[in-house]
Amino acid sequence: MKVSTTRQETKRSGTNVLDAIENRRAVRDYTSRKVEELLIRKLLKYATYAPSAVNSQPWSFVVIQNRDILKHISEASKENIRQNPNFNQGHEYGFDKFIEENFDIFYGANTLIVICSVECSLMGFSAEADCFLAAQNLMLAAYGLGLATCPIGLARATLQTNLFRTMLKIPENIKPVLPIIVGYSTSNLEKVSRRLPLIHSWHESL
Ligand SMILES: Cc1cc2nc3c(=O)[nH]c(=O)nc-3n(C[C@H](O)[C@H](O)[C@H](O)COP(=O)(O)O)c2cc1C
Repeated sequence: MKVSTTRQETKRSGTNVLDAIENRRAVRDYTSRKVEELLIRKLLKYATYAPSAVNSQPWSFVVIQNRDILKHISEASKENIRQNPNFNQGHEYGFDKFIEENFDIFYGANTLIVICSVECSLMGFSAEADCFLAAQNLMLAAYGLGLATCPIGLARATLQTNLFRTMLKIPENIKPVLPIIVGYSTSNLEKVSRRLPLIHSWHESL
């Protein structure tokens, strides 16, 4: 028998998508519960369902669930922030907390997924952009699976150093693009204010 999707079914599954888009939040408070391998594999699968320029699928992944390595990355990233000549300009954004001795840039999460990209550009579209689409898929899927996430841009430069590339067995032609923490949280998801869409123009036939 041929199975077809009705309009109503499409609408119903659409509701979950809209819920995830509207209610996913960057979570900064994690319990010590480890994320199961099966769930991580599901997240990676959903990430790969993202669109990509000419279906190039330029992404690949590193999964880190080792506390010592996470601590090492966190400390190295804090040192990077301290050394950054623009650091002083970040005071108004509360950057100071990022270098405090006990601050963990991963907020206690014990899983870090690093989305990586092959270094290439197709017709002006960067592979990195595709990886950010995969990242959004991964975070929305995590929401759907009851997991919390937060992109951790602070770790990006650290992960791109030779020291960590070697430690994490990242091949030479592959670039770490966006680290995302994943885990369980008990904190409430607070709404974050959004600016209204800025529409430059809207052209209709009358
Ligand atoms: C590329 C990128 C890098 C980010 N890096 C960090 C980070 O290093 N640390 C952090 O706490 N949040 C980080 N965030 C999360 C943002 O602060 C967060 O998405 C934003 O405040 C909006 O909140 P929401 O995700 O809850 O809607 C990052 C987000 C993006 C997209």
